[in-house]
Amino acid sequence: MDTARIRKGFPILARKLNGKKMTYLDNAATTQKPRQVIKAEREFYEKRNANVHRGLNALSREATELYELAHENAARFINAGGIEEIVFTKNATESLNLLAYSLGENIRTGDEILLTKMEHHANIVPWQELAKRKKATVKYADITEDGRLDIEDLNGKISPRTRIVSVTMASNILGTINDVEKISALAHEAGAKCVVDAAQAVPHTKVDVERIRCDFLAFSAHKMLGPTGLGILYGKSELLEEMPPFLTGGDMISTVTLEGAEWNKIPWKFEAGTPNIAGAAGFSAAIGYLEKTGMENIETHENKLLKAGLKRMAEIKGVEIYGPEKGPRTGIIPFNVDGVHPHDVSEVLDGNGVIIRAGNHCAQPLMREIGVEGIARASFYLYNNTEEIERLASSVEEAKKTFGV
Ligand code: ALA
Repeated sequence: MDTARIRKGFPILARKLNGKKMTYLDNAATTQKPRQVIKAEREFYEKRNANVHRGLNALSREATELYELAHENAARFINAGGIEEIVFTKNATESLNLLAYSLGENIRTGDEILLTKMEHHANIVPWQELAKRKKATVKYADITEDGRLDIEDLNGKISPRTRIVSVTMASNILGTINDVEKISALAHEAGAKCVVDAAQAVPHTKVDVERIRCDFLAFSAHKMLGPTGLGILYGKSELLEEMPPFLTGGDMISTVTLEGAEWNKIPWKFEAGTPNIAGAAGFSAAIGYLEKTGMENIETHENKLLKAGLKRMAEIKGVEIYGPEKGPRTGIIPFNVDGVHPHDVSEVLDGNGVIIRAGNHCAQPLMREIGVEGIARASFYLYNNTEEIERLASSVEEAKKTFGV
């Protein structure tokens, strides 16, 4: 991967931070945007701004085409059946909330929802709230000492009452990639639906919903070079057809009388109100960029960075690295420095222009499971390079010298 060339296409990567070259290693939180994405959003407002699915005029038709094309692009990117299987939401969190309400309608007293102990809060709290409303139970599959999902435990926790199995495809902290194909098969054997939180997977590896055979899959545009404010929910069309809408109002209806309403066809039944049209234009550009670069190339590049990063960080005495030693993982290095609070690590790094994330990463149950209050996390993407790994490591050494025991 020619990162020098790639970096020229991301205007923000040229900036300085605290007088130093900026080293952006917080890609699991959000990714930077290439010129193509910025241009697509700007061009929408400069040339095509109109509302969608409404006006009988050329401008609105153009906006509608562009908006629907973004659904088509998303469907192709994850190998979904068509645009009827792609719902645009505000973010992956909203996609999961939509499921907890709409799919959750069928949950009865005593039913079970199975999650794992490595989920992001977005894949925990909506299900806990659903369980409260319906007097259902939430169970959690264990993780192993080295941060992999314990599939045996997950299998053992599936019961005849399990209705939904919802798991992350890639942990936002540990980077662990879970065998969602297998989990989906186990869920289906028990007659349960399988939901995959793929927010940390779709940007980094080829995700194919037909191969996974999951029923639903949630992800977010901003973690894959696209704009913020746009989430995606894939759902099998026959399931989306059966489900009641989540939000109601304009655009999601076919007819409304004073007595009630009938719903629009899918996916629009799930897209009430004016959507993020400019975001959809930017998202199409992001997908185009990733497809042109090639997901296999991105994955190979990140694996190289991960390997180099893990090796370099392991050389620093007193640095503990989390996550599986064996098995697939994304380009995330979760670590702690002995005797130094992760916030202090992050502060020293910030002074050197190195951006990471430190804290509980919206996964407090996983933090408790690992037995730490917080973790420092460096996460890579296609524009990162080994020079940046060196800047990360030398700044961690500095943090250790400044605060370490
Ligand atoms: N979920 C994002 C992260 O892990 C925000 O940083």
